[in-house]
Amino acid sequence: MNSAVTDVLIIGCGDIGERVARLERSEGRAVAGLVRSQGSARRLRAAGIQPITADLDDPASLNNFPVKDAVVYYFAPPPDAGVTDPRLEAFVASMTPSNLPQRIVLIGTTGVYGDCRGEWVTEDRPPNPQVDRARRRLAAETTLQAWSKKSAVPIVILRVPGIYGPGYLPEKRLRAGEPVLREEESPYSNRIHADDLARICLAAARHVRPSLLYNVSDGHPTTMTDFFLRVADVLGIPRPPAVSLEEARRRLGEGMLSYLAESKRIDNRRMREELGVELMYPDLAAGLASCFKRCG
Ligand SMILES: NC(=O)c1ccc[n+]([C@@H]2O[C@H](COP(=O)([O-])OP(=O)(O)OC[C@H]3O[C@@H](n4cnc5c(N)ncnc54)[C@H](OP(=O)(O)O)[C@@H]3O)[C@@H](O)[C@H]2O)c1
Repeated sequence: MNSAVTDVLIIGCGDIGERVARLERSEGRAVAGLVRSQGSARRLRAAGIQPITADLDDPASLNNFPVKDAVVYYFAPPPDAGVTDPRLEAFVASMTPSNLPQRIVLIGTTGVYGDCRGEWVTEDRPPNPQVDRARRRLAAETTLQAWSKKSAVPIVILRVPGIYGPGYLPEKRLRAGEPVLREEESPYSNRIHADDLARICLAAARHVRPSLLYNVSDGHPTTMTDFFLRVADVLGIPRPPAVSLEEARRRLGEGMLSYLAESKRIDNRRMREELGVELMYPDLAAGLASCFKRCG
């Protein structure tokens, strides 16, 4: 385990972590990233990020992290089963009182609100998770909040909707001709471009007196069907067939159906006004155009 001092430690340094690291490094900060696999560690090293290889599922591998006075971004997902997040529990348990970070920024999910029947949702709305995936994320929030109270280390929770951008587009399912719901039956969905999310993470880490909780979104929810059709159009491939909910239940997987069962419009006012974030991609038109320019 490498215990060298770092300004920034990213737990779960995958795609968003690398984007955050790029921004932090461009401001002159030293960045370390925790990943599980050797392949990911090599990728980090090539990107100028100090790799730390450990497994959050193996608490014995978590010790002596260089967290003291660092900004910690916690981006690792919970495990695939259960209703708690033992990975986050193990991480916070590994920190001792003499080795505490300056602040922790957690990526969570807007899924914790459950189905809101298309209503606008602010941070004041009580969570109402409907599926275990969202229950695990809410448990992670609760665990981190309890730890923050005990340790007096401030935390910021970002409730993040669907991330899109290069590498995040549903190209495979569109090319496979998987159907979408008819527009009139399709729920609202909310999105954020990966590069905007990275900038929001930095703003949450820097703000002098942040709130505990921020909804993240580009502020322009549209239906999930609209998203798939627009991606098909910019990819230049045929639009997928639109089916009724009844038919979708026969043809789509459980995971996609669980997303289709929830409709909400995420209010991002607190994020914009308090964190002062100016989005580069405030809607899908801007975000998808940029994405294809970069993807070539
Ligand atoms: N995609 C979306 O629409 C969406 C929406 C809301 C929230 N999120 C969440 O946003 C966060 C960041 O997303 P992302 O796209 O950057 O994720 P990602 O690219 O999949 O990165 C996740 C990172 O976590 C590491 N990790 C996973 N399990 C680990 C373990 N047991 N021990 C140590 N490291 C572990 C992985 O390491 P290895 O590479 O070595 O496996 C990887 O570096 C994730 O929590 C994601 O679930 C995503």
